[in-house]
Amino acid sequence: MKGLILSGGKGTRLYPITFNRAKQLVPVANKPVLFRVIEAIKEAGIDEIGIVIGDTGAEIREAVGNGKRWDVKITYIPQEAPLGLAHAVKISQEFLGDDRFVMFLGDNVIQGGISSLIRQFASSDWNSQVVLTAVDQPQHYGVAELDNEGRIKQLVEKPRNPVSNLALVGIYMFDPNVFRAVNAIKPSWRGELEITDAIQWLVENGYAVHPYIHRGWWIDTGKPIDMLEANNRVLAELAHHVEGYVDRDSKVDHLVTVERGAEIINSVIRGPAIIGEDARIINSYVGPFTSIFHHTVVEESEIEHSIVLDHSRIVGIPSRIEDSIIGRDVEITYSPIKPKAYKMTLGDHSKVGLL
Ligand code: G1P
Repeated sequence: MKGLILSGGKGTRLYPITFNRAKQLVPVANKPVLFRVIEAIKEAGIDEIGIVIGDTGAEIREAVGNGKRWDVKITYIPQEAPLGLAHAVKISQEFLGDDRFVMFLGDNVIQGGISSLIRQFASSDWNSQVVLTAVDQPQHYGVAELDNEGRIKQLVEKPRNPVSNLALVGIYMFDPNVFRAVNAIKPSWRGELEITDAIQWLVENGYAVHPYIHRGWWIDTGKPIDMLEANNRVLAELAHHVEGYVDRDSKVDHLVTVERGAEIINSVIRGPAIIGEDARIINSYVGPFTSIFHHTVVEESEIEHSIVLDHSRIVGIPSRIEDSIIGRDVEITYSPIKPKAYKMTLGDHSKVGLL
């Protein structure tokens, strides 16, 4: 089997974090979502992976490279515009050849245990397997209707009146018959070749499409709130360890990871939390569900339920920072200089919530 990861898209709903960075590279519990997807595919025993890239392709290539780090071989497949998931399959035909494959959306985070599902498909005679899960707002997704025997009756992309709450999760498995489907369908109202329509075509034409219902959590990291939610979930399930330095005056509980080269000085860290490589936490409090990425400094401050990216500085902030996503090279400091006022240099699309 081969793997196909879709990593195009601009990530506008995550601006400014994704203004100059691919959304799939934003770290969740200090690891880019895309790396987690590569690991999930590798765990299923697949070592040939194609990544479909768009405008942010250069950064993705730089971050992932040739895949040696995971002992996989990566092939990049440029997509000239975001023309749909089925279009991405179409342009990947040469890479995929006659192999069965699993397609993953590069910005989805799912609770583990997917590898057995992929292996099961590899040895089955199904033409496709789709992963479904119950969601609160099915109208935002591809939605499946099952019959009394649990077989797929119909699939509809973002229906106005959903017939069920079972959404298509961003993980799909196919055999080469999918190429017939993607060549037969027409673009949807949003101008995209929808993978949901391609799977519906397979169902209508008598191919075996097997639905699997995922009972764990699944997060499509489109918006900042989803990013924080994914961070919470992954931090809660991480096997925590301390590699960096924790001084005697600090309190770090067992649900905290302190990565290589990090220093915790006179601080309290309450897990689940992760402190990245060479980060420094000094005279501070880091609360549950917080990920501090590499080379970031938190000094004389309190932060909780937040993600801070690399090379940022948070120093001397008098009230606690919560529910925040803070980008790279950001400085948040306390300024005693009069007038007593907020002094900000904020980039385009920034969002600040002041008391
Ligand atoms: C895509 C699919 C949709 C699926 C969703 C999962 O939607 O078209 O069927 O449920 O991914 O994240 P999009 O993100 O393109 O709106």
